[in-house]
Amino acid sequence: MLFEPFRLPSGLELPNRVVVAPMTTYSSRPDGRIDPEELEYLARRARGGFGTVITAACYVSPTGHCFQGQWSCADDATLPSLTSAARAICEGGAVSVLQIHHGGRMCPDHLCGGRGTSASEVPAPRPNASTPRSLTNEEIEELIAAFASAAARAKSAGFHGVEIHGANTYLLQQFVSPHSNRRTDRWGQNRRLFPLRVTEAVLDAVGPGYPVGYRFSPEEAETPGLRWADTEDLVRALIELPLDWLHVSLPRYDRASLVGDFAEPTLARLARTIGRRVPLIGVGGVKTRADAEAVLALGADLVALGRVAISEPEWPIRVAEGLAPRLTIPCADAGSRLTIPTGLERRIYEVKGWFDVDDA
Ligand SMILES: Cc1cc2nc3c(=O)[nH]c(=O)nc-3n(C[C@H](O)[C@H](O)[C@H](O)COP(=O)(O)O)c2cc1C
Repeated sequence: MLFEPFRLPSGLELPNRVVVAPMTTYSSRPDGRIDPEELEYLARRARGGFGTVITAACYVSPTGHCFQGQWSCADDATLPSLTSAARAICEGGAVSVLQIHHGGRMCPDHLCGGRGTSASEVPAPRPNASTPRSLTNEEIEELIAAFASAAARAKSAGFHGVEIHGANTYLLQQFVSPHSNRRTDRWGQNRRLFPLRVTEAVLDAVGPGYPVGYRFSPEEAETPGLRWADTEDLVRALIELPLDWLHVSLPRYDRASLVGDFAEPTLARLARTIGRRVPLIGVGGVKTRADAEAVLALGADLVALGRVAISEPEWPIRVAEGLAPRLTIPCADAGSRLTIPTGLERRIYEVKGWFDVDDA
């Protein structure tokens, strides 16, 4: 099944079920324009047989700029840059998806133009996190419009679809989580309201038949924090919308509840909740064909590869031929050997333990 085409509800056919997971490349120009070496990186993975390439998270507003070298889709000046990325992926033969994002309270002050913003004035539970400013009603409406405009821009740029980044502690998740959302107004009484309004606005902006997906994290470790019940509520609301996929962000595809609420793999539980009403993408620690097939066996329809798509740009072609994929990063020159943009290559070597790097 892994290498057979898969049709999304909108009718778009994916060449196979193997997806490059969204990954920030830390390599764009300071104004968020995509660098040519990032285009090479995308094109090589598309040529390598991945059916779908989801891009790095791209900020929809300068107030959501979260990483050095992050892509921007915040205004029309970014259209040529976005078009070049869509083209690089499509010419390689894959389906192209732009991930749209706002970092909220995770944004460093020097990138987001002042103080970070969020649902409430609660810093992230990590050392030295600064206290964000709580968004006004008017600003919330502006951000909903910014997500919608970014999605329309992705469509104009030639992307086949967009993925709304509602995972990994960023702004949309900050509204769903009781840790970061302490509001008493309607955005706090119904913590799903903001992500649902964003999703509806995005669907409206791109029109029927254009693929839109939504990525989310199922739980948070802190108390109060996001729990399975919150996620189940959100998922039940999302499957009522004409989405083309839901994408769960997990560090291991077979992981059970982070906080011990249940012992079965989260992916299987989610698949049961969704009941095949919307395709599900599974992710997390997939290295081999057996891992990818296990993701499908747990109930996902598509399987995303993150770090291994970096160490093995030809993963689908090699694995389909029965060859072993490269699972580690060479200890030197990974950038030129594996076509990795400079900013990402630097991070891979700097952040110990993130990637499996060969011994020198
Ligand atoms: C370098 C890097 C950058 C990432 N950037 C993003 C991102 O922009 N958006 C996102 O949703 N997840 C991001 N992630 C998380 C991945 O999409 C994926 O969920 C995670 O790496 C687990 O999959 P893996 O074990 O196959 O790497 C990133 C991961 C890595 C390694």
